[in-house]
Amino acid sequence: MKKTHALAGLVFSMTLLGAGLTNAFAADETLRSLAEKNNIYIGAILNSQWFSGGLPGNYEQIHKQQFNIVVAENEMKFDATEPQEGRFSYGNGDKMVKYAKANGMRVRGHALAWHSQVPNWVNNYRNDKQKLLKVLKNHIENVVGHWKGQVAEWDVVNEAISNNEPQWRTGSVWYQGIGPEFIDSAFVWTHAVDPDAELCYNDYNLEQGVNPKAKAGFLLQQVKRWVANGIPIHCVGSQTHVEDTTTDKHFIGSPDSLRSLAKELAKLNVKLKITELDIGFKSGVNVSKHDLERQGQTFRQYLDIILEEPNADTYLIWGVSDKWSWLGGLNRQKGLIYDDNLKPKPAFDSILVRLQTFEPPQDTSKKDTTVKDSTVKDSTAKDSTKDSSDAIRPFAMPSSISMHVAGRTLFVTGALSTKSTKIEVFDMQGRPIFSTENSKGVFDLSSISEGFYVVRVKSGMSNLIQRIAIK
Ligand code: XIL
Repeated sequence: MKKTHALAGLVFSMTLLGAGLTNAFAADETLRSLAEKNNIYIGAILNSQWFSGGLPGNYEQIHKQQFNIVVAENEMKFDATEPQEGRFSYGNGDKMVKYAKANGMRVRGHALAWHSQVPNWVNNYRNDKQKLLKVLKNHIENVVGHWKGQVAEWDVVNEAISNNEPQWRTGSVWYQGIGPEFIDSAFVWTHAVDPDAELCYNDYNLEQGVNPKAKAGFLLQQVKRWVANGIPIHCVGSQTHVEDTTTDKHFIGSPDSLRSLAKELAKLNVKLKITELDIGFKSGVNVSKHDLERQGQTFRQYLDIILEEPNADTYLIWGVSDKWSWLGGLNRQKGLIYDDNLKPKPAFDSILVRLQTFEPPQDTSKKDTTVKDSTVKDSTAKDSTKDSSDAIRPFAMPSSISMHVAGRTLFVTGALSTKSTKIEVFDMQGRPIFSTENSKGVFDLSSISEGFYVVRVKSGMSNLIQRIAIK
């Protein structure tokens, strides 16, 4: 309460002193600060190169400024954490957990039981069910135990469903050696070690409909069974590696289909998270500015699910910059929100603007709500990294500029760059509609029709984003 009064007083005196410039102390907004207002997590992986210090400094700067949840690209996988039987390797994972703690970020663990990136010594036990059960249990107990209370959520099982027809992935070492009960067991074992962690089933091609012939339809049947049997599953992670539909006419995924999965999961008290988003174009095709803007709209449509569905809380992108994206291996390109030079793409703007314009319903606080199987006791997803008292919050510089609209003129005041001040106007869906720059800080908006917009002002180091009404 105190804070509100102090702020109200400040704004009031500013109004008196500054002739209506009420926004002079608004901090520069980031994806992260806006996501926090909307009670969601927004994140990007830490690419493998980060762990060996092989990335430019501004990569980490961007990462911690813009995101509040983190996952390791490869460093918590089976082959990374138990390269030899019974010999565990936690150095890289620890490095990420420390980084997350220092920057007040939530940590996702990825992944415990997966057919890929499994060391050969495991594959050698393919025909020994009892041994494989022991191997998986021991792996989970050690890895989950090591990061207990620090990894807030785990992909317990990754990609266990076949891609071609709705059935289990029969080629997986875990499926072959143990049978489908490896899945149930993995959830139970993980929950036993860390009852506070949120536990997810994670897979791709889940944005292709929920009918029984589609992968998500098959998954839904399994989730129903798990929930009915008291298996501790709290979330489905949709990887959401999708392709721009203009370069792959046959790509059938859509945000609407993923939304229908979220709604079905809500009936079971299970969350939906977007865990590995990228929206690539086919390799080799020319990608125009217009294509990038359309890509931005697709990013925004997937974000809408997370903002609007009460059981959806996480929007995680599989990479920061196109330069270090894994997509080349899928014959795709340019699927992320920063370009090769770590400059934000139109997709970044659409996400930023949508986070700015979204008005959450009054009573939601979904990040902290327990949305899960009520038969599972004591498994509230507590965000231990966020709550820890020694977490250092990234320092947000107060903005040294402010903007004010009078009639059809936009005034930018404060410490303006002597060279040039740029304004960009977006509609409420984050589509760019107008931009111009000059050195005076006075802009004519008469070409813009009546309505609500978001304006971003860039002047020197300042970067202010604010909603305006044009009447
Ligand atoms: C990918 C990594 O990005 C690559 O560096 C690695 O070579 C292969 O794995 N689904 C997943 C992720 O669950 O773990 C994969 O990550 C991408 C697809």
